[in-house]
Amino acid sequence: MAFHNTSPSRQGASLIANRLRSCSARHALIFPAIALSGCVPGQSALHPAGEDAAEVAQLFWIMAAGAVVIWSVVFGAAVYAVLARRKPTSERAADLVVLGGGVVFPTVTLGLLLAYGLTLLPDWGPGKPPDMRLHVSGEQYWWRVSFEGPDGERIETANEVVLPAGAVVDFVLTSPDVIHSFWIPPLGGKMDTIPGRENLLRLRPTVPGVYRGICTEFCGASHTFMAFEARVVPPEEFPAYLAAQAAPAKGDATAFLAAGCGGCHRVRGLAEMGSTGPDLTHFASRTSIAGILDNTPDNLRDWLANPARFKPDVRMPGYHMLPEAEFEAILTFLGGLE
Ligand code: CUA
Repeated sequence: MAFHNTSPSRQGASLIANRLRSCSARHALIFPAIALSGCVPGQSALHPAGEDAAEVAQLFWIMAAGAVVIWSVVFGAAVYAVLARRKPTSERAADLVVLGGGVVFPTVTLGLLLAYGLTLLPDWGPGKPPDMRLHVSGEQYWWRVSFEGPDGERIETANEVVLPAGAVVDFVLTSPDVIHSFWIPPLGGKMDTIPGRENLLRLRPTVPGVYRGICTEFCGASHTFMAFEARVVPPEEFPAYLAAQAAPAKGDATAFLAAGCGGCHRVRGLAEMGSTGPDLTHFASRTSIAGILDNTPDNLRDWLANPARFKPDVRMPGYHMLPEAEFEAILTFLGGLE
């Protein structure tokens, strides 16, 4: 009986083989892309810009190096077992391999790694007080950030965190709605913001730069868009930033108040009623709108017309139905809140 390449089973097999080949070719491109996308320095835990992140990165590289060595030894042993010429081995030699490789080696290696890992745990005892405290509230889907001013008063902003390099910062984390998780990968570890309690996260940023913070706990439809900018500035620049944020706003809030924006947004000095939405006192000085769009007039126009286009399920309604003159007046007002 003759077999032809065209038989249905052969065709099926070659189809599957082709699929697999094209699939693996595609995956060969996709996997490095995914791996590399994790290497954007502004959002990478492996490009540390803070004390804690540096320790975590070091732990990662030591663990990775250990894993590569162990994998090579195990894989080498497997290859040896398959390819080596079979010859009898004494029972004593076999016992030594099992005891050495199966008991002594893992116990010593894991013990050393554990001891090293324990030295990286944060010190929970009463430590030195922080240089500054920052209150951060995770909300659906934005970040409320408030500094403690020199007289203890709160200076509120949103979707951006500005920190002086070298300072020990205590983040006081909470949430009014669901659990979020606050993470600035280049500065250190993450911590949940939990309704009804305050979590404390201590970080010490060391390298000035612009980093990207994210929410890492699924919190609703726009979880993935809950980003913010973390800016580490040289310490001598920080007091000027804080003073600028503390100053009241200037501008004509008539259209803003007439459209009801003041019911949710505070603009210190001009509209003091609402606080469910982000504080907009110095909105124009921020680099982003809602943490995800560049703060440009065109983006602001699109955002104001229909925020849900950018953040599904966002609480803020769209204002595309406002008369054009009123809409423009609000844009002008927001654009002037330096
Ligand atoms: Cu907030 Cu995920």
